Amino acid sequence: MDWEKILDSLAQIREEAAAELAAARQEQQRELWRVKYLGRRGRLAQLTALLAEAPPAMKPRLGQEVNSLKQHLLNLFQERRPTGRPEKGQNLSFPGKEIFPGCLHPLTQTTRLMVNIFVRMGFGVYTGPDMETDYYNFEALNMPADHPARDMWDTFYLNEQHTRLLRTHTSPVQIRVMEKMKPPFRIVAVGRCFRRDPLDASHSPVFHQMEGLMVGSDISFSQLKGLLIYFCQELFGSETRVKFLPSYFPFTEPSAEVSISCVICKGTGCATCGRTGWLEILGCGMVHPRVFRAVGYDPETVTGFAFGMGIERIAMLRHGIADIRFFLQNDLRFIRQLSGSR
Ligand code: DAH
Repeated sequence: MDWEKILDSLAQIREEAAAELAAARQEQQRELWRVKYLGRRGRLAQLTALLAEAPPAMKPRLGQEVNSLKQHLLNLFQERRPTGRPEKGQNLSFPGKEIFPGCLHPLTQTTRLMVNIFVRMGFGVYTGPDMETDYYNFEALNMPADHPARDMWDTFYLNEQHTRLLRTHTSPVQIRVMEKMKPPFRIVAVGRCFRRDPLDASHSPVFHQMEGLMVGSDISFSQLKGLLIYFCQELFGSETRVKFLPSYFPFTEPSAEVSISCVICKGTGCATCGRTGWLEILGCGMVHPRVFRAVGYDPETVTGFAFGMGIERIAMLRHGIADIRFFLQNDLRFIRQLSGSR
């Protein structure tokens, strides 16, 4: 072994290594460099292993040179480290990089809030399929094939015969639950719904609803009113006023629309409430006897109420969101704005 030559080669390694590191722009290249020179089987490790065989006269000098080269390469690597451990001369008072830990989607936040209000009152939580049959979406809800009310719920059909479709509301879950359960019970159902609506600031062909159903032997309209007033005030604040207006749904009789005093102007009139001071947020009513008959209940002994509402609309009112399309765009700037809320 020509030990003098090895000694000479150290200077060459020093130069080559420096040039290669300078050219390594990406973290991956830097890592390859580290493995090549400082790794467990790298150039320096090989030289150190060789030391053992050096003649005693050469050993101290060679050892010193190899060590100094190793230290030099380590320093080079540390100096050019883009991130990582604090280095000499690094300013530790510099503000740290903010890391976004993630958050629930605004719609999920509002859904959970709404559902929890009912869970605290003893309601069970159910879901149903997005793909429904004509029977569950319409027929069993007292909307036979030629019923004009079907026009309000035009949808996407999944077969030529129009027997399979995307559900237009969560009301079919009422039927599915009643088919399986015996009264008394109280449930809510949440999920995705679909309508043949063009996408604009307040309509979306895909949206979400929450449905409620309470069935028993002496369920009254005044209980429905009390429950929904409580719900609205939990959601929008105790000063919220709640108004019931007569309405029509095929699956309830009597039916009502519920409006709350405008959350923006507190009822004095603004653009959000169309200067009326009121916002319509849900539909409800006493379950129609025909609906009970469809699931085999006796309408003479069983009574109940139901309600349904759009979740996007409630989330928009809670947070002052002007356009329903924001929920669908996956724009992190929108989602992050609500990361601090629940
Ligand atoms: N399904 C209705 C809709 O999509 C909302 C609704 C109204 C649900 C009255 C109900 C109800 O359960 O009783 O517009």
